[in-house]
Amino acid sequence: MIGTGYVGLVSGACFADFGHHVTCVDKDGDKIASLRRGEIPIFEPGLDALVASNVKAGRLDFTTDLTAPVAEADAVFIAVGTPSRRGDGHADLSYVYVAAREIAAALVGFTVVVTKSTVPIGTGDEVERLIHETNASADVVVASNPEFLREGAAIRDFKFPDRIVIGTSDERARKVLGDVYRPLSLNQPPRRSRRKGRCRRAGSRARHRARQSHRLQIPACRTGFRRLVFPERYPRAGEDGAGP
Ligand SMILES: NC(=O)c1ccc[n+]([C@@H]2O[C@H](COP(=O)([O-])OP(=O)(O)OC[C@H]3O[C@@H](n4cnc5c(N)ncnc54)[C@H](O)[C@@H]3O)[C@@H](O)[C@H]2O)c1
Repeated sequence: MIGTGYVGLVSGACFADFGHHVTCVDKDGDKIASLRRGEIPIFEPGLDALVASNVKAGRLDFTTDLTAPVAEADAVFIAVGTPSRRGDGHADLSYVYVAAREIAAALVGFTVVVTKSTVPIGTGDEVERLIHETNASADVVVASNPEFLREGAAIRDFKFPDRIVIGTSDERARKVLGDVYRPLSLNQPPRRSRRKGRCRRAGSRARHRARQSHRLQIPACRTGFRRLVFPERYPRAGEDGAGP
C-alpha cells in the first residue's frame, strides 16, 4: 500500500484483517515511526485495535522503503494524496505519478498496480505509460479500484461496501483483485459451536442482520455481510482452507 494516509492505512489494515500480508509504505518517516510504535496518526474508531491485532499476527507492517515490498507483491495499491490544485481546482496528480515511477523501478514478476487514489479518467493509462517508460520490461497491469470510505465510518465502509469498483480488462488482474477481495464474498454458515447458547446467539444475530439488510434494501447476494458480522466465526483467508 503506497501512501499511509487515511485511505492507505484503513485499506491496508482491513486487507490485513482479511488475511493478506500487507506492507504500508509512506515517505513520511515520522508517520512510519509512530505507526511502528503502535500510535495511529488519525482518529478512526476501531482502527487502533485493527492495526494492533494485525501487526501482532504478523500480517501488517510499515516501512519508508518500497523496494522489497513492491518486489514481493502481487498487487500494489497507490493511495497517495491528490489535493486540489490552486487556481483550476483540478486534482494534483504529481504524487500519483511520482509513486508510479518509484513502483516501476522496484517491480519483479507479474504485478497489478492499482490506483486507489481519487483520479480522473485517463490517469491509469498515464500511470501505465510512466511505469513502462521507467521499466520497459515490467510485467504489469494497471487497474483502478477507487475508494468510497467516509471518515468516521471508514472501517465499516471498507468491510461492508455497497459496491467494490474494479476497472480492468485484463484477466490476470481480475483474478488477483478477485482474490484480494474474496474474503468479502465467502459464503459460509457459522461454524457449529459446542455451546448451544453461542449457536442460538449467532442465529438470532443473523436474523437481526437479515432483517436490517432487508430494511436497508441491501441485496441478498451481499454475502460478505454475513462473514463480517461474525468475524470470529469465519475463517480468515488462509485458515481452514478458506483461501483467498
Ligand atoms: N480521506 C478520505 O476520506 C478519502 C476517501 C476516499 C478517497 N480518498 C482519496 O484517496 C487518496 C488518498 O487520500 P488520503 O486522505 O489518504 O491522503 P493523505 O494525504 O492523508 O495521505 C497520503 C499519504 O501518501 C504519502 N505519500 C505521498 N507520496 C508518496 C510516495 N511517493 N510514496 C509513499 N508515500 C507517499 C504522504 O506522505 C501521505 O502520508 C486521495 O486521492 C483522496 O482523494 C480519500
